Amino acid sequence: MKAAVVYYSMSGNTQFAAEKIAEKLGADLIRLVPKTSYPAAGFKKFLIGGRDALKAAEPELEAYAFDAEKYDLIIFGMPVWASSVTPPLRTFIRDHLTEIGDKKIAAFSCMLGSGGDKALAKLQGALGIGAFAAAMTLIEPKSKTRAENEAKIDAFCKELEASE
Ligand SMILES: Cc1cc2nc3c(=O)[nH]c(=O)nc-3n(C[C@H](O)[C@H](O)[C@H](O)COP(=O)(O)O)c2cc1C
Repeated sequence: MKAAVVYYSMSGNTQFAAEKIAEKLGADLIRLVPKTSYPAAGFKKFLIGGRDALKAAEPELEAYAFDAEKYDLIIFGMPVWASSVTPPLRTFIRDHLTEIGDKKIAAFSCMLGSGGDKALAKLQGALGIGAFAAAMTLIEPKSKTRAENEAKIDAFCKELEASE
């Protein structure tokens, strides 16, 4: 089963988890980078990102390589923004929804403390699917080394391997 981990990360937590998952599953990593970066500090960090997440914005992305035909499984990774989907994922879904309609889809979110389940439910809605093959929410996996996160990532990957 060939997998791609498609993710956005502002401050490295989602990237950290995406890399672990890619290593465990032998998956390709596809990082989404908005052409105009979201402010990563100060008051605007939460204002601009939160506003765009709530209005389901679809920002333009830097070029990336993605060939849907190569993959059986797409794993989406995102930080939780205002209990919502981070906008770069919405752009990817808009551009590739028809190509990935027949694939297995899994997802994970990273957050400080709340809203992960809501954000994953909104991601399901954007994808038009009823359930993920596997899903998890991690709390700050990069900055806080938690055995709990490691165990969740392990279980997530095992569930996907078992569903082949
Ligand atoms: C605009 C914005 C909104 C956020 N909203 C939430 C939230 O609703 N709930 C939460 O627990 N964390 C929230 N966070 C924190 C991030 O989800 C969290 O720090 C995440 O691990 C960051 O992932 P990253 O390092 O891959 O960017 C928000 C952060 C930003 C920048």
